Amino acid sequence: MTQPRILLIVSGGIAAYKALELVRLLKAKDIAVRAVMTESAAAFVTPLSLGVLTEDHVYGDMFDLKEEREIGHIQLSREADLIVVAPATANILARMAGGIADDLATTILLATDKPVLACPAMNVRMWHHKATQRNIAQLKADGIHILEPGVGAMACNEWGKGRLPEPAEIAAEIERLLAEAPPVGEPHHLLTDTTRTINAPDLSEHNLFGRHVLVTAGPTHEPIDPVRYIANRSSGKQGFAIAAAAARAGAKVTLVAGPVMLPTPAGVTRVNVETAREMLDAVEDALPADVAILVAAVADWRAADEAPQKIKKDGGAPAPLLLAENPDILATLAKHPQRPALLIGFAAETETVVDHATAKRARKGADWIVANDVSGDVMGGATNQVHLVTGKGVEDWPEMPKSAVATRLMERIADELAGPK
Ligand code: CTP
Repeated sequence: MTQPRILLIVSGGIAAYKALELVRLLKAKDIAVRAVMTESAAAFVTPLSLGVLTEDHVYGDMFDLKEEREIGHIQLSREADLIVVAPATANILARMAGGIADDLATTILLATDKPVLACPAMNVRMWHHKATQRNIAQLKADGIHILEPGVGAMACNEWGKGRLPEPAEIAAEIERLLAEAPPVGEPHHLLTDTTRTINAPDLSEHNLFGRHVLVTAGPTHEPIDPVRYIANRSSGKQGFAIAAAAARAGAKVTLVAGPVMLPTPAGVTRVNVETAREMLDAVEDALPADVAILVAAVADWRAADEAPQKIKKDGGAPAPLLLAENPDILATLAKHPQRPALLIGFAAETETVVDHATAKRARKGADWIVANDVSGDVMGGATNQVHLVTGKGVEDWPEMPKSAVATRLMERIADELAGPK
């Protein structure tokens, strides 16, 4: 297979420094990167540092005759499989949406027939401004892929939506788009091109507006006495990332969370619980839901009798710990009169992952099982490698950040709810 090639356009914002890490990650994945900078980007990151990382000339001024002679803007686009604008400022998004070509970056973007991924990053007020939202809607309608910005603290001491997604998340999205490339040689419109091309799916379809998504996350704690409990190593990260992705996709989200210290994602209603039985109650209270994604690592057993006082050593044999089985929330929902239309479980396995997950799907009555191998350091780690087991078969997803697993799962869910095309 030929090495995939990215043309990275860096526009001028405080997040431009993250472009350096993005280049490093892409190179590590054997993806070639050539960079173009806008004039204002050079105020935030130097062409030299970008050039060292891309191991290539960094292109900037459209009227640089040498560049035009050696490699024109058409060729820069022709030699790429995908054009990525990261960070994409409100300004460059506006120029893209308006078809303005007043520098090298926007001229490439207007002249290209290649798929384009834009990763907006800006102040929260600029992001929510009607003009920006109008431009984003226009760009989506034009087939431009938009990676939604994240929510968090801003460089300008404000809080909200507008942060550039982490480089690992952008890299995962780039890999996803590259993986959709049709076979070499498929004809493409506008420019004749012998390189691989990519079909641009309409991301506006990945919309969960008006849907209620219910997510469980984290471990449960099952008290033995007032100071001791049974627990497990679940960090809650994957479930929280899924709740965040559902909210980004426009859904109303209820997150029933076991005891974890993670911040509540923007736009998510959180219900904190401690035990499996409390989790079941909270889940049933949250119904009806269109989709339930049960990511929590629910303790299978609890102490049969919770001691009212701290159990003391009495000098003899240790006190026996008698266990009782907890309710199975997934299996309960599967038989519930208000069963969500799409019921998704997770399967944490340490061996024969897919076989166990397939059996679990049937046994618990789930529609899908997201299976992962927890024999490594998945619990608490930042990445996950999962298999999606559905009624139609098994999809093996590559290892990716937990946030990217969440985004991809949300896209699959939106497609499923949208019904057959
Ligand atoms: N689950 C649940 N209630 C439980 C146990 C598990 O809702 N009491 C859900 C989990 O949230 C997950 C799925 O069931 O979506 C599978 O969880 P897992 O721990 O892998 O399965 P177990 O039922 O514990 O099966 P086993 O211990 O045999 O692997």
